[in-house]
This record gives sequence, structure tokens and C-alpha cells, in this order.
Amino acid sequence: METELEQIRAEAFAEIGQAQDEAAVEAVRVKFLGKTGRISLLSEKMRDVPKEDKARVGKLLNEIRAALTSAIDGRKSALEAERDTRALAGVDVTLPGTPVAVGALHPITQLQHRAIEIFRRMGFALADGPDIEDEFHCFDALNTPADHPARNEQDTFYFSDGRLLRTHTSTVQIRTMEKCAPPVRIIAPGAAYRRDEVDATHLAQFKQMEGLYVDEGVSVADLKGTIEFFFRELLGKETRVRFRPHFFPFTEPSFEIDLKAPALGADKWLEMAGCGMVDPAVFEAVNKSRGDAAFDPEKFTGFAFGFGLDRLAMVLHAVPDIRLLVENDVRFLGQFK
Ligand code: PHE
Repeated sequence: METELEQIRAEAFAEIGQAQDEAAVEAVRVKFLGKTGRISLLSEKMRDVPKEDKARVGKLLNEIRAALTSAIDGRKSALEAERDTRALAGVDVTLPGTPVAVGALHPITQLQHRAIEIFRRMGFALADGPDIEDEFHCFDALNTPADHPARNEQDTFYFSDGRLLRTHTSTVQIRTMEKCAPPVRIIAPGAAYRRDEVDATHLAQFKQMEGLYVDEGVSVADLKGTIEFFFRELLGKETRVRFRPHFFPFTEPSFEIDLKAPALGADKWLEMAGCGMVDPAVFEAVNKSRGDAAFDPEKFTGFAFGFGLDRLAMVLHAVPDIRLLVENDVRFLGQFK
């Protein structure tokens, strides 16, 4: 048996040396070390070896098995290494790779995210509504009379069925109050549409952010505090906010909000938003549509505001032409990474 073992060792080593690929090495492994391989068959014969020889023969058997295993593994890795070397011949793996172009969020989206984050800290939830609206949600419920210029066909995109592209995001005020009872504290970023001649400062579609807060005892002081906090967080502590009396059908009193901030460049007041205290007529329209008195104007007050994200982005980044924001030229967008 010992002679046989030595013979197997010699044969196996010779075959391993000759194996020219990994499959050939594997075949040698199966032939000698596999379940019915020659070493395994010999192991079975161990029981016939006389007692006094068992230890010696067993040791030799194990030794040869170990030697073959490591020779086979060694040959496999050598062949693998050779194959890799061949595959890489003439290739410089230290050359830098092809850079992958990394995208970024659109400047308006970035601004919107920052605005949402600030309002969220004040407890405002996100709300939305459809871009295609009916006149009730866009005008009637917002106390906007039939002869208001915003309702004119020259100013608004109407569909043939009487629906329209919403002219402002104030529609979401109504849609939210139809669904939720007070207290309501929401912001609603979204698109608004007007029949404007497209030029450096006008698009037919632009982005607004609406806000609404309704609860018991909400006052103009809350409105001012919220708006001032928001713009100071967004544009810096030095930002100054001015409220100028104005008129909106759905708020009373109403204000326009002017800002003066180093972040906005020019040292002058810039008109940036509209706001006011929710007109009781709006609550009444909502109650009528809900069929209850959830927004009792004797009990609840509220404020609303709205501003244009495009306009704010333009001033913030000194963008000279609003059309740059929608042309999606990567040379422009690449500056806002
Ligand atoms: N919806 C108004 C606009 O588009 C802005 C506004 C919103 C004013 C809420 C007051 C309250 O001009």
C-alpha cells in the first residue's frame, strides 16, 4: 500500500504539472481526491492494513492528501494569475477612469426644499392640489367676484369644459379646509399659470409657495412673526421685512411683503410676497362646501401668504432672465451644484 501511495503521489504531481488550464487541474483533483478518486479508494483499504502498520500508512496517506490538495490549489491560482496577466497585457490599470457626470437639483427645487424645511420647523405640513382646477376653488371660494380681472379669458387658461389652469396656489387653501378641520397649518408649493407674454421676467407657468394657518386667536402678529422668521432663516439674520397695505379679495387686511437683504443684492426694497388675514367670506364658502360650520368665522381666524419661488430664486442668484430657469441648459444649471 505504501508503494501504491508513493506511485500515486508521483503520478498526481506529474499530471498537475502538465495541466494547462483550470478545468484540467479540476479533472486531476477529481481523479485523485474526488469521492471515488484514487486517494479516497485507498483510504477505504486502510481497514485491511495490519494493526502495527496502521499509524505509519495512515500518516503517509494524510500527508499525500495534504500535499496534493495544496499542489492543486497552487496550480489553480498560478493559472488564474497567468490568465489575469494575459487579460491585462497592454492595459494601464492606474489610468484614471472616465468621470461620471453628477447631476444636482434644479435651483428652484433646492430653494423649495430649504423653504419647506424652515416651515416644517414651525409645524407647517405639506399640502397640494390639482393644477387643473375649477372656478370655485380658484376664484369663487376665494371671494373673487365674477368681474375680477384674474378671471378674464385674457389672463387665464380655460379648458372648453370651464375648468382652468390654476392662476395661483391659493386653491390649496380651499382644498385643504374642505378636508381638514381647524387647526390647519400647511404650506403648498406648486405651479401656477397665467396668460402672460413670455419675456425676461414672465413665464406662462411659474412656481409659487402658499401658506395657510387657521386656529383660534391667530393674529396679524403671528403672520408677521412667521413671515419674518421664515425670510431671516432663508436669507440671513440681517434680512428686513416690510408689510405694505394691499388688496387681495380673499384676505382682509392684506399686505404686500417687501424684503431688503444683503443676500438679495441691491440695497433697496423688493416686493416678494402677498399675504393677509383670511377673509371671513372664505371661511363661509368653505363651510358651505363642507356642509358644516367647522370654520366658524366667529371662532377662528387665520393668515395666508403666497410668494413666487422663481422670482425669489432669480433675485437670490442674480439670474437676469427667468427663461434660464426653464431652458435646462446644463451650463446654467451646473452653477447650482
Ligand atoms: N394668491 C396671491 C397671488 O398669487 C398671493 C396671496 C396668497 C396673497 C395668500 C394673499 C394670501 O398673487
